Amino acid sequence: MNSLLIYGSYGYTGRLVAREAVSRGGTPIVAGRDGRQVSQQAAELGLEGRSFDLESPALASHLEDVDALLNCAGPFIETAEPLFEACLEAETDYLDITGEFPVFERFRRRDDVAREAGITALPGVGFEVVPSDCLAAFLHGQLPEADELALGITGSPTFSRGTAHTLLELLGTGVVRRNGRLVEVPTTFRTRQIDFGDGAEPAVTAPWADVVTAAHTTGIETIEVYVAVPPVAKPLLPLADVSAWLVDRTPVRRLLEQGIDALVDGPDEHQLATETAVVWGEARDSETGRSARARLRTPNPYALTVDAVLAAAERVLDAAHHVPAGFQTPASAFGADFALGLEGVERELVSTPGTSHRIEVSAADD
Ligand SMILES: NC(=O)c1ccc[n+]([C@@H]2O[C@H](COP(=O)([O-])OP(=O)(O)OC[C@H]3O[C@@H](n4cnc5c(N)ncnc54)[C@H](OP(=O)(O)O)[C@@H]3O)[C@@H](O)[C@H]2O)c1
Repeated sequence: MNSLLIYGSYGYTGRLVAREAVSRGGTPIVAGRDGRQVSQQAAELGLEGRSFDLESPALASHLEDVDALLNCAGPFIETAEPLFEACLEAETDYLDITGEFPVFERFRRRDDVAREAGITALPGVGFEVVPSDCLAAFLHGQLPEADELALGITGSPTFSRGTAHTLLELLGTGVVRRNGRLVEVPTTFRTRQIDFGDGAEPAVTAPWADVVTAAHTTGIETIEVYVAVPPVAKPLLPLADVSAWLVDRTPVRRLLEQGIDALVDGPDEHQLATETAVVWGEARDSETGRSARARLRTPNPYALTVDAVLAAAERVLDAAHHVPAGFQTPASAFGADFALGLEGVERELVSTPGTSHRIEVSAADD
């Protein structure tokens, strides 16, 4: 039996994942809708290639001999559903690298169906949401009575083409979690000062998927996620909703899409090797005001994604790890310390009632 099939394997992230899987001794099947690109990649890496598109009437037949599917084809709002349906039929575990909160919400609602089929549905095993989800779980462990969670992200500004297209899809969308409900809010709804390690800096709310995943992982039902604002972008914040309105006009969207295709290429080898990111979190008990804060330092988000997806796929494929069936988040599947097992990840407990500051370094750095 073949073990892992990577769909969207010739995109920017899929290519990095397939290449690294091979260098770790793996033999995944590479797959996607463009037969020419699949064959070329399969030949280059010495792997089996499968070409099929998502409208294929017998989608599940491509997965019947596969233990787990890793979907790297985004935007996932278009690709996750047909591939998940095929996984249910083929009884194949499903993983992806989405960061789109509506996609996580759909998976959450299909938890019972995945359980019935006996498959694991594990979206978001990339930079979004592995470190933030693991940090949420860690903070919840520090302060189990917490009922509010804030997360913040800062880091590399270099995107791949697929991420830029996905961000364009989400532009104009704001969301927070309030008392168990997802609430739509204006883009950049709230600003807060966050210390990512170099002193307080402004960050604004962003539609990150932790509003769904951290609730599943921790049970905390009031969640906001912030992203740091680069100084140059600060004066533009009041224009965020106007630009979203503009982008909704078809010619402007088309122009932006063409610009992304022409100009955006993704981080190069040097950026992958040298850039870093920081995820910050605070869990708070609103009744007592007690709180716990921590930070996770990570490598470049795409470098972390490659490491995280392969570590996640390895665990799902290895029966010894007993990854449960149904909808899972990275931390519900593997625990709060999963991120610490990835290369170059460092966790810093900044403050918690009765605990002093300490730094834990990932095992991979020892
Ligand atoms: N969670 C994270 O931290 C994280 C990290 C990295 C990337 N991502 C996400 O992953 C996605 C891919 O990123 P990327 O950088 O690899 O983008 P990319 O270079 O544009 O590659 C996208 C891949 O998806 C395929 N694809 C897109 N729509 C498809 C569809 N409807 N049917 C079949 N295949 C389809 C493309 O095939 P064609 O070329 O044939 O269109 C291509 O192989 C993006 O949504 C990005 O936001 C998330």
